[in-house]
Amino acid sequence: MRSVSIIGTGSHLPDRVLTNADLEKMVDTNDEWIVSRTGIRERHIASEDEASSDLAVRAGEKAIAAAGINKDEIDLIIVATVTPDTMFPATACLVQDRLGIPQAATFDLSAACTGFLYGIATASQFIATGMYTHALVIGVECLSKIVNWDDRDTCVLFGDGAGAAVLGPVETGGFQSFELGADGAGSNLLSLPAGGSRLPASPLTVEKQLHTLHMAGREVFKFAVRVMESATDAVLEKAGLKREDIDFLVPHQANIRIIESAAKRLGLSRDTFIVNLDRYGNMSSASIPIALDEAVRSGRIQVGDQLVLVGFGGGLTWGACVLQWTMEGGAD
Ligand code: UT7
Repeated sequence: MRSVSIIGTGSHLPDRVLTNADLEKMVDTNDEWIVSRTGIRERHIASEDEASSDLAVRAGEKAIAAAGINKDEIDLIIVATVTPDTMFPATACLVQDRLGIPQAATFDLSAACTGFLYGIATASQFIATGMYTHALVIGVECLSKIVNWDDRDTCVLFGDGAGAAVLGPVETGGFQSFELGADGAGSNLLSLPAGGSRLPASPLTVEKQLHTLHMAGREVFKFAVRVMESATDAVLEKAGLKREDIDFLVPHQANIRIIESAAKRLGLSRDTFIVNLDRYGNMSSASIPIALDEAVRSGRIQVGDQLVLVGFGGGLTWGACVLQWTMEGGAD
């Protein structure tokens, strides 16, 4: 089996910024509550004519440029999203067409906030076995399009964005281990109830706001803290590493209190965690690749660093990997 790594990263955020002060004018909330309960100060929101594929294409272009390969060397495109442009065709097909990569196999992957981790785990298997050489994995969401803007419990939490990674074979380093998991018994805790074959769109589903995101926040919070610790320990054990071997942990960016609880349980300093949720909120599958891209471009993550990427979310799903970084950073 070949060793596989991330050889290029990229990200793209829509221009419009929605601050907590803006939200105070929309629902019964306030900056103090949002910051103290979540850590979020602002988020980016796609415009009316912007869809997930638009953000994904921009992030994908940057990741391919950072990888220093030609786009005709990409064999596979995976788009992880819960906000595809349409139910079908797959958003990955739209991205493939817009990027001009007709030779690539393409598909969408639905694992909510864990989507990017499921995506890189999947893509890396194709490369490790030799079936493909380069894969583009994109986590993208336009959550603003499925949020109920009258529901203060959820509308303050989410944002839009896209993060991308090109995966390819490497001599040494790269992915050391993966852990993927799911607990379908918790599927009702985080969902978009209508618009599928269970509850097709009807005037009633629209009236009842069933085409918007529904979440049992407290239950998901407890699950998140638990699996961040267990999934991290699982990938470390598979890689033969200890908690203190981690240079940086790139977590899903849902809530600063989840990250702080996980840091405490894992006995890791807060500086080990890459955090950007104050500026972007929770962007589901896009959160981890955007945080990774920013840390690479700023030069914070260096060649040889041992990273843990860990995510959790709807499904319920979770995933983690250990990745020894191989790509020169500091592009910005
Ligand atoms: O990415 C997918 C995974 N998702 C997550 O990981 C989210 C996990 N959950 C969370 O991050 C937290 O549970 C929330 C941020 C969603 C909620 O925080 P919480 O500390 O669990 O608050 P709560 O739901 O227990 O609500 C506490 C109070 C309630 O008032 P009462 O019933 O105590 O009077 C809420 O009505 O805060 C109220 N509240 C708000 N107040 C002002 C809820 N939302 C707001 C708001 N502004 N936006």
